[in-house]
Amino acid sequence: MGFSSRLGQSFTAKEIFDLVKDDLKLVERELSSESVASVEAVTHIARYLQDSGGKRLRPILLLLSSRLAGGVTPETIRMAAIVELIHAATLIHDDVIDTAKTRRGRPSSNAIWGNHISVLAGDWLYMQAFQIALRERNFHILDLLINLTQMMVEGELLQLERIGKINISEADYMQLIDRKTACLISVCAKLGSHVAGAGEATEARLGEFAWNLGIAFQLVDDVLDFTARETILGKPVGNDLREGKVTLPLIYALAAASPEERGMVERVLADRSYDNVPFSRILQMIERHKGVEKVRERAVHFTAKAKAIIAEFPDSPYQRALTAVTDLVIDRDR
Ligand code: IPE
Ligand code: IPE
Ligand code: MG
Ligand code: MG
Repeated sequence: MGFSSRLGQSFTAKEIFDLVKDDLKLVERELSSESVASVEAVTHIARYLQDSGGKRLRPILLLLSSRLAGGVTPETIRMAAIVELIHAATLIHDDVIDTAKTRRGRPSSNAIWGNHISVLAGDWLYMQAFQIALRERNFHILDLLINLTQMMVEGELLQLERIGKINISEADYMQLIDRKTACLISVCAKLGSHVAGAGEATEARLGEFAWNLGIAFQLVDDVLDFTARETILGKPVGNDLREGKVTLPLIYALAAASPEERGMVERVLADRSYDNVPFSRILQMIERHKGVEKVRERAVHFTAKAKAIIAEFPDSPYQRALTAVTDLVIDRDR
């Protein structure tokens, strides 16, 4: 699944992947056939993004949740395609907003096709996802997806409001990652269990499991932004701060920082570059105040919650796989 795991867990990444491999092939086929527009640019952008990889975390979670709750049907495959389409649309829009140059190890769509075409292609993909959802004639599914989309847009708006600001609290940060990341991951588990015929209680419980997983996922994402290698991550390192985003490793470090150290961060935020303060200095400062360590501890706190929830379910390969996914989220390097 594109995660690499270092530890000898009960379930390896490959074993998890094998459980959903055949389902995922169907999801990829669905994605290909549903991303054809009568205007070439949209089809090209959708295919370009689909072909450039991505971990497929959201469809995998949705499929495993369905399996856990009763089984995968053609409806599950369509739901898995929907969440990946929504994810793709948000990435395209996000890269326009962030003026990002790289995504999934390749030039981003805005870098190739420009902002105007990319925004419209993102809109098209959003609507395609809703088109597929509408065919199910199921108001609960639409309710989940519409709510989700509004939350994600709110997340991007909150992010914009806070861009370039140094005084971001942990609570502000949590509110943001709830909207921009955890909500979608939670909806994946909800949709997966719902279409498998699970009742409300199971759907809510799996949703909560995935929400905790999603929070941990974003915490690790924000750590990787400081610690990863660009060639593995597929996007530039040190990018969040350069884009004006103060994330949790930095929030924790700033709480203990000297006025000089704070000044360095202010400088990068003002410059939107590491021309005057090299990235290595920022990294040293975060290390000095154990910013990365503390955020990793927080991430483990959330995956522990996720694990406790999934432990309530009867033992099965899918239950164990979902448990193992929580470790992979912590141990991933991209
Ligand atoms: C990227 O998500 C956006 C975030 C929420 C951090 P992923 O890291 O799952 O992206 P892909 O799909 O694997 O490229
Ligand atoms: C994540 O936002 C994208 C969405 C969930 C909309 P970021 O801007 O933090 O993520 P990357 O770093 O571009 O993947
Ligand atoms: Mg971005
Ligand atoms: Mg990021």
